[in-house]
Amino acid sequence: MNTQSLDRIIIFDTTLRDGEQSPGATLNVEEKLTIARQLARLGVDVIEAGFPYSSPGDFEAVQKIAQAVGTPDGPTICGLARATRQDIQTAAEALKPAAKSRIHTFIATSDIHLKYKLRKSRAEVLAIAEEMVGFAKTCVDDVEFSPEDAGRSDPAFLYEVLERAIAAGATTINIPDTVGYLTPAEFGDLIRGIKENVPNVDQAIISVHGHNDLGLAVANFLEAVKHGARQLECTINGIGERAGNAALEELVMALHVRRQYYNTFLGRPAESEAPLTNIDTRQIYKTSRLVSNLTGMLVQPNKAIVGTNAFAHESGIHQDGVLKNRLTYEIMDAQLIGLTDNQIVLGKLSGRNAFRSRLKELGFDLTEQELNKAFVRFKELADKKKEISDRDLEAIVNDEIQQSPDLFKLELVQVSCGDHASPTATVKLQTPDGQELMDAAIGTGPVDAVYKAINRVVNVPNELIEFSVQSVTAGIDAIGEVTIRLRHGDRIFAGHAANTDIIVASAQAYINALNRLYASLNPPEMRMNPQHSSLEATSTANA
Ligand code: KIV
Ligand code: ZN
Repeated sequence: MNTQSLDRIIIFDTTLRDGEQSPGATLNVEEKLTIARQLARLGVDVIEAGFPYSSPGDFEAVQKIAQAVGTPDGPTICGLARATRQDIQTAAEALKPAAKSRIHTFIATSDIHLKYKLRKSRAEVLAIAEEMVGFAKTCVDDVEFSPEDAGRSDPAFLYEVLERAIAAGATTINIPDTVGYLTPAEFGDLIRGIKENVPNVDQAIISVHGHNDLGLAVANFLEAVKHGARQLECTINGIGERAGNAALEELVMALHVRRQYYNTFLGRPAESEAPLTNIDTRQIYKTSRLVSNLTGMLVQPNKAIVGTNAFAHESGIHQDGVLKNRLTYEIMDAQLIGLTDNQIVLGKLSGRNAFRSRLKELGFDLTEQELNKAFVRFKELADKKKEISDRDLEAIVNDEIQQSPDLFKLELVQVSCGDHASPTATVKLQTPDGQELMDAAIGTGPVDAVYKAINRVVNVPNELIEFSVQSVTAGIDAIGEVTIRLRHGDRIFAGHAANTDIIVASAQAYINALNRLYASLNPPEMRMNPQHSSLEATSTANA
């Protein structure tokens, strides 16, 4: 492969691996599968589905994604592996069902990582990189190698490691700015240096990976593209370790909106209208919502591309300009990312067929069972709300297809509150063994009372660390979406629910998070962070 000949950008999505490493973003196998299917609809080229050696759950998720999403016309499915035989073998095993599979192996190359984390010399790291890329190559054809903390590595040593990795069979060399330290000019220089000083660099694709500690990840990647990077490693909504990874939606839309600027760097005529990535941009908004709902990681309102304010015009001057001509204040059309005009499409009299076909138009591909559940919710909503918009439909469908384990079920919630009353809640839950238990509690407010009553039944210690309510649309009868995060020991669990009654949504979101917590206790889940463990750490995969 000659990187010069590649005139488009490969999108490598790591939402399910690096994104899931962000605190509290833990997803179960079904949820990962749901996201992977959506990533395939979005059109990503590679899905990094997990770190199979880290836990039996991660192994299973990668294997199921490889089977269900790694079809011949689907994306390449990738598994992360430290540069050890066990990691690589385990990744290869999990990836077997995929039509196109890739092993991504890594070892740190910065002196700081060598001294304090790996306790190895440069010569040892060089030898391990070469040997493990060679070993990965005996398992799969498509091998990616990353020198972790490349951004802070000595360039001369980096060139040497990359040259050996390519000679050993790496088809992609990925350059991570692991700690988000570099500036755009420095990142561009780093890629240029690699192109100029690694003699066999044309035999591999240059990829970039970076974190957003200084808020520069997207800018760094765009600069890297100008200097020869052809694969971008990114996550939906930019989730990931610490300040997160480069956001997929920002990269893709920058390359789309400014394609005439980037065309020449990819050897195309400047005026070419051909897309620079394979992404179906109309799937962006939906993917962002799905990832936010399932991980509990909220998107800030002013977030580029997918924030609720990204296409809103508040000031009179802007509104006036946009009404006269959208181009005055808009550089892209909201429909490009799949935001419809929030039309009122359905109501009480709408039937199943209208419901099904609108969902199809919105890009939801539901099974018959999911459709039935969503239709019941739609009818319940239509009794309370006269006009149902696309945003409402998305909220109820996302809620229904959530995959949190159904252990405790909320059967009833009732509150009484007011300025002269002590907020009191009664709840009835069905327990995992089928019993119906009722309890009541007084709280500082209605939600606190509901949560205290639920805790009396579920009886697992936890601390609520985040609670947020957002309305899906404007209007007094809007659906409220509640997202919560709770802590149990050192782990964080998220819950999300939507309902026109925000007390019911709050109760359901709490039950969803508690169910995730409860499922993780039995059997206890142990996971390994790929970057925080030395090469010798023992596996939990077969524990
Ligand atoms: O940030 C990083 O360096 C990584 C590597 C595993 C590629 O995530
Ligand atoms: Zn990373």
